[in-house]
Amino acid sequence: MSFAIRPVTSADAPALAEMLNAVIRAGGTTALQREFTPEALDEAYLTGPQVLCCHVAVGDDGALAGFQTLGRYPGLPADIGDIGTFARVDGKQRGVGSALFPATVARARALGHSAINATIRADNTGGLTFYAKQGFVDHGVTRSAALDDGTLVDRVHKRFALGA
Ligand SMILES: CC(C)(COP(=O)(O)OP(=O)(O)OC[C@H]1O[C@@H](n2cnc3c(N)ncnc32)[C@H](O)[C@@H]1OP(=O)(O)O)[C@@H](O)C(=O)NCCC(=O)NCCS
Repeated sequence: MSFAIRPVTSADAPALAEMLNAVIRAGGTTALQREFTPEALDEAYLTGPQVLCCHVAVGDDGALAGFQTLGRYPGLPADIGDIGTFARVDGKQRGVGSALFPATVARARALGHSAINATIRADNTGGLTFYAKQGFVDHGVTRSAALDDGTLVDRVHKRFALGA
């Protein structure tokens, strides 16, 4: 399947909240653990003031297959945005995340950023492999960050250099 990539709008929020909440309920990947209302998702990751860009991938069937967001994150330098990528857990298609990445890179470059940060749970092998495949390299590790149930999981920080 091929995907059309376009900027998100607030009208996408209900479908994307459903998609992200299914990823959260499945567990074991994203560091996000609490489900989002459409309004909260819109504010945090789609069109809110901390969002630098967010794009959706639309499949041949017209359904939303995933989204990728770039935002400001506390503790990161002003010229480094934080990326998040989510694809439908029920989707059999691959290539959603890769199809979204060029649009995010283009926006980060247009902003004059030096790099993109990705923070991934150390047990999220799919996420780690996905970002490595895009060209992200290891930047650091935050040891033993607690999940809501008290489980301690390292967080891996990866960076994609945007160059001059
Ligand atoms: C991570 C995620 C966004 C990848 O989306 P995707 O559309 O499946 O990614 P792509 O098909 O574009 O993957 C590109 C490459 O990444 C790697 N990859 C992606 N998912 C992988 C997985 N689950 N296991 C191992 N490698 C994986 C592969 O090398 C793949 O290349 P290939 O198809 O040639 O083998 C998706 O699995 C997802 O939504 N996961 C849950 C949320 C999450 O963990 N997000 C990342 C942290 S923000």
